[in-house]
Amino acid sequence: MLVIGSDHGGFLLKQEIKKHLEENKIEYIDVGCYDESSVDYPDIAKAACDKIVSGECQLGILICGTGIGISMAANKVKGIRADCFSAKYTRLHNDANVLCFGGRVVGPGLACMMVDEFLNAQFEGGRHQRRVDKISSLEENFGK
Ligand code: RB5
Repeated sequence: MLVIGSDHGGFLLKQEIKKHLEENKIEYIDVGCYDESSVDYPDIAKAACDKIVSGECQLGILICGTGIGISMAANKVKGIRADCFSAKYTRLHNDANVLCFGGRVVGPGLACMMVDEFLNAQFEGGRHQRRVDKISSLEENFGK
């Protein structure tokens, strides 16, 4: 299951991505926001990351105005690897579990292509596993 969330800055792009997911019969849970009223992106990041940490969802898409704040917030959660730059290699090499967008940065066409790349790519493991394990070890050692 996929979780998707946005603040007000990402709301319109989220609506486009949800339409794309529905057209492709990809199920998702939307943790908000549900209109363009102002909300705080860390609250949305927490709601989405809770779904991944609990195991209810495996991957997430988070959107704010720039993609920066919501990815920073998501990356504070233990076990979350969020990226707002790459879609395919972040899965292949970094086992990212959250893809972030800036609703004021990227258009819906590119965003939906990136969503497809993200959802279709599989973590390659091997030497990359060792490095992802070291990310997890940083989480342990720095008390996240
Ligand atoms: C909200 O206006 C904006 O600051 C937020 O969406 C995001 O861009 C933060 O990184």
